[in-house]
Amino acid sequence: MLKAMAMPLHIQNHSRMVCRVALFLCDGLAGSGVVVNRDLVRAAALLHDITKPRSFTTGENHALTGGQYLSRLGFPEVGEIVRQHVILDSYFAGKLPNEAELVNYSDKRVLHDSIVSLDDRMDYIVKRYATTAALQRKARRVWRDSLALEKRIFSYLPIEPDQLSESLAVTPYAKSH
Ligand SMILES: [Fe+2]
Repeated sequence: MLKAMAMPLHIQNHSRMVCRVALFLCDGLAGSGVVVNRDLVRAAALLHDITKPRSFTTGENHALTGGQYLSRLGFPEVGEIVRQHVILDSYFAGKLPNEAELVNYSDKRVLHDSIVSLDDRMDYIVKRYATTAALQRKARRVWRDSLALEKRIFSYLPIEPDQLSESLAVTPYAKSH
């Protein structure tokens, strides 16, 4: 699919890093007894920007069209997560973190192909995409919701958010990916 969409290498690398983070979080949650569908997280994380390359010319909402693209190909569950990777339909939708929350949050910890803090990533998003006052308000709302999401996810993990990068560095690549 990445090939079919002529996915540029830098977005492939971004997607792979988002996938590593998401699977690391999956495994950490599993250690606390919170079980999510790992295969679903893996597929959605790798494919979350599937229509982003063409969005540069079409101006389409790549979260929405990425979700539609995957649903039409017969992967509606993956599509649902991809559709929500920029903004979740609802935060804290269930008692426990779910697959869509993990992919959404992981994407917000990866800038290009590096792990950054939520603040750094959101700062980048606000500067790059929030070109109007309304978009800035929206971005700040997402920022606030993402911080709450971070707290929720890490309440089940033995590390703090700022330890993500070092923790991932000692996790074998093959296991996470
Ligand atoms: Fe995206």
